[in-house]
Amino acid sequence: MEQPTLDVADLTVRFGGVVALDRVSLRVEANEIHGIIGPNGAGKTTLFNAVCGFLRPQGGTISYRGRALLGTAPHHLARLGIARTLQGLGLWPGLTVLENVVMGSHARPHFLGSLLGMPAADRLERRLRGQALEVLSELGIADIADARPPAVPYGVQKRVIIARALMARPALLLLDEPASGLSSREMDRLHKLVGSLRQRMSVVVVEHHLDFVMAISQRITVLNFGRVIASGTPADIRGNREVSEAYLGQAVTPSEGAAGA
Ligand SMILES: Nc1ncnc2c1ncn2[C@@H]1O[C@H](COP(=O)(O)OP(=O)(O)O)[C@@H](O)[C@H]1O
Ligand SMILES: [Mg+2]
Repeated sequence: MEQPTLDVADLTVRFGGVVALDRVSLRVEANEIHGIIGPNGAGKTTLFNAVCGFLRPQGGTISYRGRALLGTAPHHLARLGIARTLQGLGLWPGLTVLENVVMGSHARPHFLGSLLGMPAADRLERRLRGQALEVLSELGIADIADARPPAVPYGVQKRVIIARALMARPALLLLDEPASGLSSREMDRLHKLVGSLRQRMSVVVVEHHLDFVMAISQRITVLNFGRVIASGTPADIRGNREVSEAYLGQAVTPSEGAAGA
């Protein structure tokens, strides 16, 4: 069998007295969309931060395509093929959308050289701009390449941050709350987009919108108070009592009128 894209085993993270993650294990297979859900404070963002090297866990291991990842500096992750979007947007308001997307490439240190008029850097800059435009086209937003982020709608800005992450040509894409603030039409488009990305990468999605996660994921891990309380297919999760209880009456099964998956 192919090795998993991401293999997290017994991961423990503490902040002082707070146990944010308590021996969390999960596997993300190649070409899998893996949803991570759980109430506020469950440890979802902490899990992403640990995978991305932003914090040092107290225990456990993280491996990426069979290679130990703990201790890898965040800026090396893009080179390895791991990209993430943050819960906020984090776009540079003074740069164009295209320039923001170019910044997602790990080749960008040379990009600065082009500002100094170095010919090789010039060629690289052209190549990266071309690549950024391709990604924007794939996401259906090439028309706003020259706009500045504050001038484009929020839902489109969320697409721009995905475009920026795709510049790293990731094998593992981590999306933190990609559907938050989107209209249901934008959520449908996001669903299609993530579905198409799956052909060339694994995607881990942290999300509050349960219906959305249930619809796009092959497998789901549920966290509560830093622990994995359930994992399995969307159907497994829907039928899980502990999950329903963790959400305290929040509908885990699709609500009336929601798109039936
Ligand atoms: N930098 C930090 N310092 C102290 N406590 C933190 C920090 N980050 C997260 N926590 C705590 O860890 C727990 C998990 O938080 P988080 O991972 O942000 O949850 P989620 O993303 O699921 O809402 C919470 O109790 C939160 O207060
Ligand atoms: Mg969070």
